[in-house]
Amino acid sequence: MSDIFDFDNQRDEYAVMGNPVSHSKSPRIHTLFAQQTGEPVHYTAIQVDPGGFPQAVGNFAASGGKGLNITVPFKQEAWKLVDTRSNRAELAGAVNTIKFENGRLFGDNTDGVGLVNDLLRNRQITLREKRILLMGAGGAARGVLAPLLEQQPLLLVIANRTESRARDLAAEFSDLGTVQGCGYDDLSALQFDLLINATAASLQGDLPPLPDGIIADGGACYDMMYGAKPTAFMKWAEWQGAGMVMDGLGMLVEQAAESFYLWRGVRPDTRPVIETLRQELGG
Ligand code: ATR
Repeated sequence: MSDIFDFDNQRDEYAVMGNPVSHSKSPRIHTLFAQQTGEPVHYTAIQVDPGGFPQAVGNFAASGGKGLNITVPFKQEAWKLVDTRSNRAELAGAVNTIKFENGRLFGDNTDGVGLVNDLLRNRQITLREKRILLMGAGGAARGVLAPLLEQQPLLLVIANRTESRARDLAAEFSDLGTVQGCGYDDLSALQFDLLINATAASLQGDLPPLPDGIIADGGACYDMMYGAKPTAFMKWAEWQGAGMVMDGLGMLVEQAAESFYLWRGVRPDTRPVIETLRQELGG
């Protein structure tokens, strides 16, 4: 990355750091938020080399930058780097948002609340007393666990290909609610009101090995991935007769809105931004 930031003096500087980062929709989303709210925000994408993350953050702060989003593969490194963390970042073990405050780094994680807000506000899906299946036990799953459990579902089951990871993750969060870990083979004969795909399977055009009939009557399916076309999991869910099938575009915009709110104290209206992005995706 370049050490010379093209800052304009009229606006506050923010950026997303990751590798790769050129595909990131965050600059587009935050630019739309800035236009909508009139906040003087300028937002760019910065590709950071492996090993160069602390230096890049330091350079950005020293140049007067106000805040950062952090994406793959630096979220765990950001968690270690910050001086203080929100409770939700603490639990997630990852930081996707940094705010520079009086020379100190405050780390937050807005991914989980982004998912919950998309479900609650945009999709009118309540989670209280629901049976939720969360697929995957990596960073993406961990990041959404605490905000999901905060909604007090009846039961949250974590299923993972490597069963031990699901069990370990469930044990770690057991203080926050009724949460169990298992393998996919253990799911037959169970039914869920909401299935959330937090695996990396969609990236490979694959889907977790779920049994037929696992979606309760009218149940909803959510893939945290998004794209121009439905993922393999979303196609499977349609075919299984799910009441609602969703991708993660709303979560992406909602997590960005929460970051924007942390930085600016202003909450953007996410709906028109989700609509614009959907149109731009061509979906
Ligand atoms: P992330 O940070 O995106 O969660 P990760 O930590 O590498 O990435 O985790 C990827 C998750 O997707 C894991 O739960 C992984 O299962 P394993 O723990 O068994 O590896 C899951 N995953 C990846 N490909 C999958 C597939 N084809 N089917 C089912 N699960 C898959």
